Amino acid sequence: MQLDIAMIGFGHVGRALVRLMQRKSDELRERHNLTWRITGISTGRHGLAADPNGLDVGAALLVVESGGKLDHFHRLPEVRDNLPLIRSGVANTLVELSTLNPQTGQPALDHCRAALDVGMHVVTANKGPLAHGYRELRDRAAVKRRAFFFESTVMDGSPIFAAAREGLQGADLLSFRAILNSTTNFILTAMETGTSFDEAVRQAQAMGVAEADPSNDVDGWDAATKTAVLVNVLMEGDLRPTDVDRTGIRGVTPQMLQAAMAKNQRIKLLCRAWREGDIIKTRVAPEPVSVTDPFALVTKTDSILRLSFDVLPGLTIVEEGAGAETTAFGVLADLLAVARHMAT
Ligand SMILES: NC(=O)c1ccc[n+]([C@@H]2O[C@H](COP(=O)([O-])OP(=O)(O)OC[C@H]3O[C@@H](n4cnc5c(N)ncnc54)[C@H](OP(=O)(O)O)[C@@H]3O)[C@@H](O)[C@H]2O)c1
Repeated sequence: MQLDIAMIGFGHVGRALVRLMQRKSDELRERHNLTWRITGISTGRHGLAADPNGLDVGAALLVVESGGKLDHFHRLPEVRDNLPLIRSGVANTLVELSTLNPQTGQPALDHCRAALDVGMHVVTANKGPLAHGYRELRDRAAVKRRAFFFESTVMDGSPIFAAAREGLQGADLLSFRAILNSTTNFILTAMETGTSFDEAVRQAQAMGVAEADPSNDVDGWDAATKTAVLVNVLMEGDLRPTDVDRTGIRGVTPQMLQAAMAKNQRIKLLCRAWREGDIIKTRVAPEPVSVTDPFALVTKTDSILRLSFDVLPGLTIVEEGAGAETTAFGVLADLLAVARHMAT
């Protein structure tokens, strides 16, 4: 199968994806019958480039990483923006890796809609479209008989949605409990040794774990968005991030963490969903967990998801060492699933 890929977003994940695909190019061709070209790249500040014959991605990486613009590589002068790029026919697959907008999911939601409408397959690591338009996108993809995959939106490269599509068919998800936000996990771990909240945020920013504006993480928006995505995809829900009962970690102090430790507990930002009759309840909030609970061992940028099904009482997935590379792997796994979909 030949994938001609248009990438919207060429930041940490986009560049890690291209490096991973370059590294695995022979393996992809020989073991998976997958050949690929990047025929379009769109960014915010680094311009846009499209070439139906395939872009020189090695050169594009160097240009963007040295702060330059991609315009020099552009071969379709009539294409100046994301939607025209998607509609230009230059690619058969969209990879959506632009910045998350947790309030609306835009403009990524419109990128996914437009791509499916013109018959492209869609892979996104951006949670926005899933939290604000999952049902609609899933149905559009079905009508158009195109693939729509999003493994990296929650727990990066860990195969949660692939497991749900394949090995968990026939199991009904009743509830889940999870730690899904690296930044708050890192901050809470640092505060256990007496570090103040502000200093822990500064440390997280210095290590590249927290954004310059950490509010998406510390106020629980990222965790609420992931909770909504899991509910929408795995529990047939229809939630937006604002529907999740949400408390961030600004009210947690080092004293509270140390008092919890004295009682053999740790405080974690937990994401929960559970069924009450026909209703799905959700909550994101800091909660104590016993030190004997596997959740207590999840520190720094690791994450954990415990799923409880009607037929499997407890299935737990733990991810260690998350980052742009593990996210890029989830996108690559989705691209392989696109190739399998094209072959059917
Ligand atoms: N980093 C992770 O480990 C991780 C894990 C799971 C999911 N994700 C999701 O994956 C996506 C990418 O993450 P990242 O870490 O690569 O982010 P990033 O480094 O901030 O890169 C974002 C990219 O999107 C571009 N962009 C922003 N607005 C755009 C627009 N309107 N049109 C075209 N391009 C636009 C940016 O361009 P400029 O830089 O030129 O402005 C940049 O290339 C996000 O949605 C994120 O939530 C990331």
